[in-house]
Amino acid sequence: LTRDNLNIAVIGAGAMGSFHAGTLSSTVRGATVTVVCDTDPARANAIADEIGARVETDPLAAINAEDVDAVLLASPGDVHEPQVMACLKRQIPVLCEKPLTIDAESSYRIVQAEAALGRQLVQVGFMRRFDDEYIRLREIIEREELGAALLLHLAHRNKDAPEWFTPAMAITESVVHEVDCIRFLLGEEIDSVSVFQTVPTTRTDSRVPDPMAVMFQTASGRLADVEIFIRTGVGYEVRTELVAENGFVQIGRDSSALVTGPTNRRSTTISPSFIERFGRAYERELQSWVRAAANGTVGGATAWDGYAAQAVCEAGVAALETRSVTRVELGDRPDAA
Ligand SMILES: NC(=O)c1ccc[n+]([C@@H]2O[C@H](COP(=O)([O-])OP(=O)(O)OC[C@H]3O[C@@H](n4cnc5c(N)ncnc54)[C@H](O)[C@@H]3O)[C@@H](O)[C@H]2O)c1
Repeated sequence: LTRDNLNIAVIGAGAMGSFHAGTLSSTVRGATVTVVCDTDPARANAIADEIGARVETDPLAAINAEDVDAVLLASPGDVHEPQVMACLKRQIPVLCEKPLTIDAESSYRIVQAEAALGRQLVQVGFMRRFDDEYIRLREIIEREELGAALLLHLAHRNKDAPEWFTPAMAITESVVHEVDCIRFLLGEEIDSVSVFQTVPTTRTDSRVPDPMAVMFQTASGRLADVEIFIRTGVGYEVRTELVAENGFVQIGRDSSALVTGPTNRRSTTISPSFIERFGRAYERELQSWVRAAANGTVGGATAWDGYAAQAVCEAGVAALETRSVTRVELGDRPDAA
């Protein structure tokens, strides 16, 4: 399969779907959004009108439509499995927003279904892999420019989250990005997870401990610690520091901001949300996917990457509940994955 132009169905016309549909129609080359699908027709209509696509309210009809060569899935995670499976059944490429599915078992079913076809069709929306700084950091690690990588410090800070956003969701919805980064940067699997909670902040009525510290150990024994802080009241900050044998590298300091706090001193340089922080990375992710999909392959995180991240997060939630070091159990990796 090699095509000059891919006809794409965007499924799920919420925050991410509308952003991606806009990017596909404005900046990405070689793609036309022909269908916008949402179970809520008003949402689908609003975007379809803007970009000149037609509307479907049944996701399976959209996936199987004649004017659709590939699917961008931005529906909620709990409906991803049947929708990705429908794409595999029709053997068309799909870019599935994270999470691949809601648990490791169902993500592994997707890995196996794709492997049975003998070709990669599923890409997972881990956009940080397309951010310049992450790409450069990976290169520094891979080439051992500062000697061997020993450990990573990561911080993921959100301005705010709704009351119903639980510590377990902080792991499955937010830390899942760090999990993919650690695997991407270090190029190996994560073996175990521990979670440590601190005292609750006064920022919420729910007495949710925030921030939390999550500690990962990789297969070769390297460490990565993640501070996940979901209600900072400040902005969106995602930082990574590499500690290597001969030096250190920090990435993610927006415009080199040094002081961030409620007085807003220099904090205008902190991104308000992930859209500003990773806007360019999302664009590149979509361009890479479209180019690869037109050639019958994937151009980013694979189904296996989506599954592994899910398995690590599942272990993370268990670690949170049991307050103990929890091992990550991974199924066999198929040859094609
Ligand atoms: N990569 C990232 O940085 C990032 C950021 C935010 C969200 N996400 C992911 O993107 C996905 C969508 O998140 P969102 O924030 O846009 O959510 P959202 O709630 O804003 O949008 C989801 C949309 O899907 C529609 N929908 C519900 N059930 C559906 C179904 N069965 N089929 C088709 N559409 C259906 C809803 O009506 C809604 O319009 C989630 O998987 C989320 O985790 C990724």
